[in-house]
Amino acid sequence: MAFNQEARKHFPEWPQLDKDDYDAVKAVLDSKQLWCGAPATHKGEFVWRFQKEFAEFLGARHCFAVTNGTHAIEVALMALDIGLGDEVIVSDYTFVATGSAVVAVNAVPVFCDVHARTFNIDEVKIEALVTKKTKAILCVHLGGVPCDMDAVMAIARRHGLKVIEDSSHAHGSKYKGKRLGTIGDIGTFSFQASKVLACGEGGAIACMDDKLAEKIYGIADAGRKVGDYFYNHYIPSSNYRLGEFQAAILCSQLKKFKEQHPVRNKNVEYLRAKIDKIDGMFMQEKPAGTEECGYYVVGVKFDPAKFNGITKEKFYKRLNDAGIPTDDCYPPLHSLACFKDGKGKKGVDYSGANWGGEKSDDRNFPVVTDVFNHSFEFPQEMFLVKDQKDLDYVVDVIVKIKEDKQ
Ligand SMILES: Cc1ncc(COP(=O)(O)O)c(C=O)c1O
Repeated sequence: MAFNQEARKHFPEWPQLDKDDYDAVKAVLDSKQLWCGAPATHKGEFVWRFQKEFAEFLGARHCFAVTNGTHAIEVALMALDIGLGDEVIVSDYTFVATGSAVVAVNAVPVFCDVHARTFNIDEVKIEALVTKKTKAILCVHLGGVPCDMDAVMAIARRHGLKVIEDSSHAHGSKYKGKRLGTIGDIGTFSFQASKVLACGEGGAIACMDDKLAEKIYGIADAGRKVGDYFYNHYIPSSNYRLGEFQAAILCSQLKKFKEQHPVRNKNVEYLRAKIDKIDGMFMQEKPAGTEECGYYVVGVKFDPAKFNGITKEKFYKRLNDAGIPTDDCYPPLHSLACFKDGKGKKGVDYSGANWGGEKSDDRNFPVVTDVFNHSFEFPQEMFLVKDQKDLDYVVDVIVKIKEDKQ
């Protein structure tokens, strides 16, 4: 993206680092403890501290820090015994990782179209996708906007399915009194560099169930048990542990995040009130019961007919040229080459998949196709502006685009 730097300077940079972050990294170096092994035998202060602090923030009984948000989903699936040939219903509108994690554990993602106003999994369309092989619903709180969790949980209960909340965009989002990531069986998070809570590469898994937590820990740490002899391995597993440097940065960033979160919420609502007044445009809606949102990105949809036929590409280029940091949205999963070619993984039967070849036709996913073709996203850091006049500027530019002949 080519920003007009002069105008760009109105909007905050990301990441926002200060002396605390530098001190945190130095503290790891000074400790000479660069990793975090099993507790009792190996220390690793920051990983254990971050897990505790993030669990407290979420109101989760357990939290495990892992290498990244993709691995967090993979570990969650394995902990729920989802594997070869099992089907998992996944929102079609998300980053590739949500779908590819399912493939990684040899299961079959089944993509579900989204809601036209919230852009999240359409609960009305989930049930038609349930088969005998379905084991879980993997919902994504896009941009931190909650899925209709009451409806998702009710469907899961009706069909005996597990629920994983991909909360990679939803740090701090709250729905009916609960933080997202604590409502389903497992919640997963990403701390990749652009996220609202970031350490470069990192992830976390939250859950409320003690038995499940033991399993998650074992899968994430080479099959070990917490507090057990270091060379006891009870299941053949891999290493998904987060390192101390990332955890130290997360401890430091978590303090800042708690201050930034209400600012983002206030500023998004300020901009929403103005955007929603523009004829032919609306901001991604929140379902009833939403109290706070993580707002990793904020989707805005427009009706080209009300904007002189402008294309999405032209729209965000105009915004970028004016120094407004918009970007494209995720292409729907069914349309990605990795799913369209239908190959998947050796030895897995994908006959139950609703993607690959003609099944990947956009006409089978009409709502997400329309949302993707007619929307763009504002990044989270834009909502850390100190002066709301900078958000008025965004509205002024949009109104100007609306008035122009394309
Ligand atoms: C919705 C969603 N899920 C999962 C991931 C994967 O996270 P990571 O990049 O930390 O592996 C991302 C990353 O952007 C994401 O946006």
